[in-house]
Amino acid sequence: MHLNSKNIEEEFRNRFDSEPVVVESPARVNLIGEHTDYNDGFVLPAAIDKKIILAMAPNGLNSIRMFAVDMDHPYFEAKFPGPFQKSGRGWPDYILGVVDQLEKRSFSIGGFDCLFGGDIPIGAGLSSSAALEGGILTGLNELFSLDLSTLEMAKVGQQAENQFVGVQCGIMDQFANLHGMENSVIRLDCRSLEYSHYPFKREDICILLCDTKIRRELASSEYNVRRQQCEEGASILREFDPSIRNLRDVSHSLLENYRDKLSGVVYNRCRYVLDENQRVLDACNHLLADEIEPFGELMYRSHEGLRDLYEVSCRELDLLVESTIELDEVYGSRMMGGGFGGCTINLVDEHALDRVKEHIRKEYKKKVETTVEFYVAKIGEGAALIGKKQMG
Ligand code: GLA
Repeated sequence: MHLNSKNIEEEFRNRFDSEPVVVESPARVNLIGEHTDYNDGFVLPAAIDKKIILAMAPNGLNSIRMFAVDMDHPYFEAKFPGPFQKSGRGWPDYILGVVDQLEKRSFSIGGFDCLFGGDIPIGAGLSSSAALEGGILTGLNELFSLDLSTLEMAKVGQQAENQFVGVQCGIMDQFANLHGMENSVIRLDCRSLEYSHYPFKREDICILLCDTKIRRELASSEYNVRRQQCEEGASILREFDPSIRNLRDVSHSLLENYRDKLSGVVYNRCRYVLDENQRVLDACNHLLADEIEPFGELMYRSHEGLRDLYEVSCRELDLLVESTIELDEVYGSRMMGGGFGGCTINLVDEHALDRVKEHIRKEYKKKVETTVEFYVAKIGEGAALIGKKQMG
């Protein structure tokens, strides 16, 4: 189905015979700062113009009726209130997880209907799941007058994923989904949750996403393993400095001093996180000074760290990044999101976009059987009711 709010709304009326509110909820990119959020570090994401559109209304029944127009098995119904079982289908769990969290926090909501569709590729590292969570929360906030701030919604979305879906993700995706702003990236301190919008509006540069189309189940289990390894590193280092809560509190010199107390793998994970946090801070300074070349260099360094120290890349992602190195028109390139597949993010000279795509396509084809898919991402607003911007 071609995506727009009118036909989502129309489809909802046909199916549920009531008047919905309509919400737009975006995907996100992350320029730099990967796997730092759950270590209380820094990230630099932005909401983009790929999105989910949701139509929702209370149904006065003891049920949640959900319809995902893009899915092979589009309908799912759960008895309301919970506790809920996992659906075994994937997508309904993000909705049930959100409702589960709201119930745990004693918010009063009732049964509702919801229909949604979108153009965010699933499993591509663009956070379609956070978009679904943020969209559902924005809708429920309105329908049941929950009075949740965007920050509270981000926390509820993250907890839904941690506790119900079972992925120990940080807060970056949900935060970016709900705090996006046109022409700006968000510098978020994942410890204090203080954030600022940094201008990103060079019209001569575009954000090109290259999708490997690789989707690996491994991603969520390995993600949780990385998180544990970081926690292990922090807990060993805490023996030498009790003020360490997590890797945010570890300096490079402390890490080097006690390197021999850590296994090689745990040292590498910690080293990557410390380096990446510093890269985000440096990248923000470059952004303020409009220095795109050194900013892009940091993206390449980030990719190397993710590949060699954090080990969350894969051959296809590496090939895509490598294929850009010889191109002057590409300022920076790296894998984005959790890893093991999905997309690379590239900062590309707008005038050379077609040539760059052609080069990457050809180089990729020489070595990989699947073809790469391209998306040009425009930075946009966070999740909101259509016709009404949610206030933080
Ligand atoms: C996924 C998680 C985020 C973040 C990234 C890696 O997108 O949902 O919380 O950890 O991976 O930076």
